Amino acid sequence: EDFSGRGVWRYAAALPFESGVSLPEGDTPLHEVPRLEADVGVRSLRVKHEGMNPTGSFKDRGMTVGVRVAQELGVDRLACASTGNTSAALAAYGGRAGVETLVLLPAGKVAAGKVAQAALHGARILEVDGNFDACLDVVAELANMGEAYLLNSLNPFRLEGQKTIGFEILESFLAEYDRYPDRIVLPVGNAGNTAALYKAFRELVEAGALDEAEVPMLTGVQAEGAAPMVEAIEEGLDDTRRWEDVETRATAIRIGNPVNARKALPGIRGTGGTAVAVADEAIVDAQRTLAEEGVGVEPASAASIAGLRKLRESGTVDDDEDVVCLTTGHLLKDPDAAAAAGRDPEPVPNDTEAILGHLAE
Ligand code: F0G
Repeated sequence: EDFSGRGVWRYAAALPFESGVSLPEGDTPLHEVPRLEADVGVRSLRVKHEGMNPTGSFKDRGMTVGVRVAQELGVDRLACASTGNTSAALAAYGGRAGVETLVLLPAGKVAAGKVAQAALHGARILEVDGNFDACLDVVAELANMGEAYLLNSLNPFRLEGQKTIGFEILESFLAEYDRYPDRIVLPVGNAGNTAALYKAFRELVEAGALDEAEVPMLTGVQAEGAAPMVEAIEEGLDDTRRWEDVETRATAIRIGNPVNARKALPGIRGTGGTAVAVADEAIVDAQRTLAEEGVGVEPASAASIAGLRKLRESGTVDDDEDVVCLTTGHLLKDPDAAAAAGRDPEPVPNDTEAILGHLAE
């Protein structure tokens, strides 16, 4: 198969290689959500659904480039710490490349779908008695000791691939509306996407392809129980303070020490964006609302919608804005969260008449 020129690799001119280990990734939909758009009250609202990538999250965009780099280097073991999605993507792309993969997960805090993916794609899974940040500390040490090649978003080649989210959003939005979106709202964990989108837009401005004034306002959303980036924006810090105790049902973004904060904070500030924290209940509501309009996302992804709602209610987001929300992972990543947020199954007898009676109740 030759996936060069497709998806992420359509933007090879902005990437360090012409092609990579590809399944292929990118070219995700920019969904219309008319009911949500009307309800939130903005000029337009689109949902860029990164859950439609091969392993169900945006991580695939980074891995296609990152694993290519690992091949160039000739390393024999790839590793990452993960809240789940990175491990699923690394396992799949490492498997594709025929390289051993090692993933460190916070024990008991990773959604079922993600662990299943890492397991079946053949990663060695180490369940660590600690949170994501502790896992990353350990795996970074292993990498420094030469035990493995690190494929967390600390690795700048991951972010190169993730820049293509920004290129796709601008391109699709322009094609449909003949203008660029005013704002991109995204969930934030390690702030890799925030940093990657900012780099993508800066490169376009430097190349003369985009006016500075056209760069969308990067708007980050975190869960209240894990919001060091929001704290840093509110307090004007150059880096985040490490939160030792983090908690949220959006386990993908249960992160207290965002490693890309120093790259991402200037992106939020430099584009006139902001950062906001949302309650878990608001995340669950947003997940259900999106799903009822046919778009199935995992809790962390729904944080973008919850954040937009909150910023609209506070007046930070105007009613005449064109907004794109990024949804980063698929509903099936976290089946337990989806089942808990949705309707309960109704037990009925194995009998048509009885079922008709039940439906008439
Ligand atoms: N949404 C989802 C579904 C994620 O899996 C992640 C990060 C984020 C948002 C945050 O993105 O780090 O670029 O700000 N997941 C990582 C992982 C930490 O291990 O899968 P970010």
